Amino acid sequence: MHKIIFHLLRKRMLFVGFICVMIASYIIYRNFQQNLPFLIVHISWTIRYIILAIKDIIHDQINAKHNRNDCLPQPGRIAIVTGGSRGIGLEVVKMFLELDMEVIIACRTPSAGEKAILQIRESGINTGQAKVYKLDNASLTSVKEFAAEIKRDYKQIHILVNNAGIIGYPYQETIDGFEQHWAVNYLSHFLLTALLIPLLKAGGHPEKSSRIINVSSCAHIIGKINFTDINNKNKYLSDSAYAQSKFAQVVFTNTLQELLKEKKYYVQVYSVHPGIVLTDLFDQYYLWRYKQIFGQYLFKSPRQGATSIVYAAVNKAMENCGGIYINNCRPTSVNPDALNLSIQKKLLELSLQQVQLNDFFQYV
Ligand SMILES: NC(=O)c1ccc[n+]([C@@H]2O[C@H](COP(=O)([O-])OP(=O)(O)OC[C@H]3O[C@@H](n4cnc5c(N)ncnc54)[C@H](OP(=O)(O)O)[C@@H]3O)[C@@H](O)[C@H]2O)c1
Repeated sequence: MHKIIFHLLRKRMLFVGFICVMIASYIIYRNFQQNLPFLIVHISWTIRYIILAIKDIIHDQINAKHNRNDCLPQPGRIAIVTGGSRGIGLEVVKMFLELDMEVIIACRTPSAGEKAILQIRESGINTGQAKVYKLDNASLTSVKEFAAEIKRDYKQIHILVNNAGIIGYPYQETIDGFEQHWAVNYLSHFLLTALLIPLLKAGGHPEKSSRIINVSSCAHIIGKINFTDINNKNKYLSDSAYAQSKFAQVVFTNTLQELLKEKKYYVQVYSVHPGIVLTDLFDQYYLWRYKQIFGQYLFKSPRQGATSIVYAAVNKAMENCGGIYINNCRPTSVNPDALNLSIQKKLLELSLQQVQLNDFFQYV
């Protein structure tokens, strides 16, 4: 019976996928009038994303019962959430506060963070403490300033959630000269993690490690890193840039876990896919304008999306099993290339060079 339902669901999803591809192809053709080879690549990326999304929605439906985090309050734990003023990040902040934690909302518009805290308190959540610090992930200088302020105010941190992210933007370089998806989603978080390792190390103990959560995406599965031209300016496609940045997060999760193990630090690192979640993330996509019409039946709510992140950050079941990729509160397999040691080494070297560090642990 299960198999028949699954089969029918798959057939229906494929049909929906086919219709979406047709509409997407037409929109792309109308809007961009691109040359044919580029248009084909563009459409092939659209198809890959649609197939991924369909698979993921089915996975979410089947595993909905596992997407829960039963956890005791965590008073005294201090967490940083980048992009914590809206979307999934905001729900993570709320759930941490419900667990009586101290939460640092790192966001580029501090007034938005303050407003978020006010709304959380008005909603009746009175536990925990929340503070706002400015962090613009599109600027490495801002990352350094943010880390300096945190180091001034805190001696230890227990949880770092690297969540801020973008998708679907046209080609643009950040002030540091990096393509913006690469910079915001991956590179800024790489530098932030290196800068905060001393505080995470100080917060970790044999009986309870500190944890770093890289909020990645199922899009990492179709991502690969163009080591010879990260920005990919001449053949730029935002879908490919996003997948590259999300793949880099998963690769680096594995590299960092090994490095932390060698150093014998009580710090664990996880990557998480939140699911396909009804937020503003895909606002650059034409069809997403109608998200409220179809989204509520297909996609996760921000709270459901935040659940796996909070699970990875605090649940006892996840103690000492860093390096894994979590989806619906369960370890899930990754793109095999993320486990390739040569890719891990190349990415580490490239990232260190891009943020101008000699050694990832040079601030310890
Ligand atoms: N939604 C999904 O279906 C989905 C699926 C897979 C993975 N994810 C991942 O989940 C994470 C959160 O996504 P979301 O759905 O919550 O998206 P969202 O609602 O669009 O929120 C994105 C967050 O990132 C912040 N951000 C963007 N650019 C920034 C910058 N330059 N500096 C600082 N903060 C910046 C935004 O802050 P502002 O308010 O200042 O813009 C916002 O807080 C992302 O990493 C995304 O890739 C989401």
